[in-house]
Amino acid sequence: MTSGDLPTSSAESGDGLASSVDGSLRASLRRSEHIEADLEIHPERYRMLTGDRPTGKLHLGHYFGSLSNRVRLQNLGLDSWVLIADYQVIYDRDGVGDLKANVYSAIADYLAAGIDPARSTIFAHSAVASLNQLLLPFLSLVTDSELRRNPTVKDELANSDRPMSGLMLTFPVHQAADIMFCKANVVPVGKDQLPHLELTRLIAKRFDERYGRANPDQQVFPLADALLSPAPNILGLDGTKMSKSRGNVIEIGMSAEQTAKLIKKAKTDSDRHISYDPENRPEVSNLLLLAALATGGDPARIADEIGDGGGGGLKKLVTEAINEHLAPVRARRTELMADPGYLEQVLHAGNEKATQVADQTLSEVRKAMQMDY
Ligand code: TRP
Repeated sequence: MTSGDLPTSSAESGDGLASSVDGSLRASLRRSEHIEADLEIHPERYRMLTGDRPTGKLHLGHYFGSLSNRVRLQNLGLDSWVLIADYQVIYDRDGVGDLKANVYSAIADYLAAGIDPARSTIFAHSAVASLNQLLLPFLSLVTDSELRRNPTVKDELANSDRPMSGLMLTFPVHQAADIMFCKANVVPVGKDQLPHLELTRLIAKRFDERYGRANPDQQVFPLADALLSPAPNILGLDGTKMSKSRGNVIEIGMSAEQTAKLIKKAKTDSDRHISYDPENRPEVSNLLLLAALATGGDPARIADEIGDGGGGGLKKLVTEAINEHLAPVRARRTELMADPGYLEQVLHAGNEKATQVADQTLSEVRKAMQMDY
């Protein structure tokens, strides 16, 4: 290889990351289904890592969309890692709010939802020095144009009122370090994260190629796959995308009364006959979906039960379903929030474990790079 060339596998060379997204979505879905089937038979083959940016309190979208899936995977017996991506909060904004409070609130949400610190390592990536040190060799393995093509980064830039920061451009490489420091091989994420997973695999491959470890028995890094488990598409209470900034969310930690009040104001439509029709009746169908998720039922059947009960009947049922489902979660959350010393202990233990594993990986990386002085 001539100097300046980056090693590329034939699959990724040529048209590069962005234009291969469609094809790779299909491939990722296939891989994901295959892994999903294998997880139950061989949970010991998998290390799962996923994470969130601590930008605020977690809501029902997080709860039904990702937290419950993490708990499911943890309970299947996967070695589980949950990362709080605090450095990723600073790439596109000047103010981050009360970051520390957000971090501890997220941990309380995790534990209340059933993430068990004995089986899942919860840590903040800023606290793991050797994880962050992986960034330097990894940055040497990607080009400026590959970074600029990343569709998720482009999207986030379009939604930001700041110019592209150096961190924003390179955060997918940082995310690769998040995944690779512990050699995670499955990453439960939404489709928007696929470009980052593709980059992670590319970096893993290029690292081992560049440092002469292409033989399977010499490779430092496994190739991580996305786990695209079907997640319900939950909307906000006004029928638009659920997001804190639109004020249309129910937070996990809200009281039953706050929840009732918000659902009372939720948008419905004028047809008193309740039916499940996500296409034509998005607001009504979203409430039915929430009720179904909370009760483990079926949205169309719940609609039949309500019949001509109208928006009022629907809202009453959804409120009860959500409040009942969340009651034990909320009770645990309240207890946890009253014990900040415990939350701190969980985070510190997770940071320590992550540091040990990252130190080990960094020493393998140094050795491969002949920097193990
Ligand atoms: N980028 C992810 C998000 O915005 C958060 C994240 C950071 C992450 N590092 C990760 C997710 C590693 C999965 C794996 O939600």
